[in-house]
Amino acid sequence: MTQTYIEDIARHVGETIVIKGWLYNIRSSGKLIFPQIRDGSGILQCVVFKKAVPEEVWDACQTLTQESSVIVTGAVRADDRAPGGFEMDVTNLEVVSIAEPYPITPKEHGPEFLLDHRHLWIRSKLQHAILRVRHEVIRAVRDYFDSNGFILADTPIFTPAACEGTTSLFEVNYFDDEKAYLTQSGQLYNEATAAALGRAYAFGPTFRAEKSKTRRHLTEFWMVEPEVAYATLDDIMDLAEDFLCFVAARVLANRRPELETLGRDLSKLEAIQKPFPRISYDEAARMLVDGGQAFEYGGDFGAPDETFISSKFDRPVMVHRYPAAVKAFYMKPDPMDPTKALGVDVLAPEGYGEVIGGGERASDLQFLRDQIARHELPEEAFDWYLDLRKYGSVPHAGFGMGIERCVAWMCGIEHIREAIPFPRTIYRTKP
Ligand code: 4AD
Ligand code: MG
Repeated sequence: MTQTYIEDIARHVGETIVIKGWLYNIRSSGKLIFPQIRDGSGILQCVVFKKAVPEEVWDACQTLTQESSVIVTGAVRADDRAPGGFEMDVTNLEVVSIAEPYPITPKEHGPEFLLDHRHLWIRSKLQHAILRVRHEVIRAVRDYFDSNGFILADTPIFTPAACEGTTSLFEVNYFDDEKAYLTQSGQLYNEATAAALGRAYAFGPTFRAEKSKTRRHLTEFWMVEPEVAYATLDDIMDLAEDFLCFVAARVLANRRPELETLGRDLSKLEAIQKPFPRISYDEAARMLVDGGQAFEYGGDFGAPDETFISSKFDRPVMVHRYPAAVKAFYMKPDPMDPTKALGVDVLAPEGYGEVIGGGERASDLQFLRDQIARHELPEEAFDWYLDLRKYGSVPHAGFGMGIERCVAWMCGIEHIREAIPFPRTIYRTKP
């Protein structure tokens, strides 16, 4: 008989089916044993009645330990009292492998222990729910761009130079003593693909040698980056707003049970609606000063600053026109005030901080040459990038969204490291 997945069980009421999975939990009372089986798609409560199964099946049930792998056959019954609304009356149970004593038990474990056992921890209910939300976020991201005229054009991971500043660059030995660097962002390449394709996006892993140990930073994270030829800062803010609303709506529509498992306050996600407030850096700085925050005008916002600013709004807030001095070399200066850059950060509510960074790119060749020198970047590594300003330079803009920041926010979880199957942080490259 072919395998049925627990998520499809409602279509099989009254039928005898086969479930292949692992023992999640088990309890017994006299002539009844209640194994709970998980198969990755859900958890099913099973009922083994001593008189309804061969003796060896009954005996095998007594040996089952947490996470033992089993193949269970039985008839599906709707039962309002059962978790999930269905139960299976077992007619056969085959043990595939008896698990050794499982390290993760229902008692509390510390975060380091759980992270050391990340390869097993992902089987737990909450982690399982987070990974399913992550998949939905990624699917929504792809669907959004794929159905709005964007062409996926992925960018390289080995790169010749920094995109987002040299302090967070991972260096690798390439061949013959040549150095290469792990990409911090596909943006510079996106500018080339946008000039070729009009609207392009890249989606892949990016790397930051961030020494920061905050709950928002990973050293390896996934970023989606759209880039649009002829777009301005305002255009890209419209796009970021529409995009985030789409992603949140999709997660709400398709991953409600997971959000409920996580105890997420759904009203916070329902509030992600257009229009998002748009404020300038100067306005945000004034809010901080007026609010008595310790903040030095001219600097970038720290995590507490972002949390303070976003706490004033019930939906994401877009902060634009940061001081050029704190932003990347490629940003276009504001013609009204060239000390400001036409960049935007989208700050998520509830303290999730910056989920999107982007803006309009400088299109002037000489300005970029000067910027590369000013930022002490190697001009020879950027010759191809400067070509984009020589051959039909146009205004253009784009942004990047960190998938894990978005997933952590959607799930309402404390730390970004739970938003990726195997997190990489300053102290962790294992498992
Ligand atoms: O603001 P960032 O550094 O912007 C860029 O890299 C641009 N070149 C993107 C572009 O315009 N195409 O990073 C963009 C986003 C941040 O808003 C955040 O969501 C995420 O990437 N991010 C991180 N996520 C996890 N860990 C880190 N260390 C991150 N650094 C940035
Ligand atoms: Mg940023």
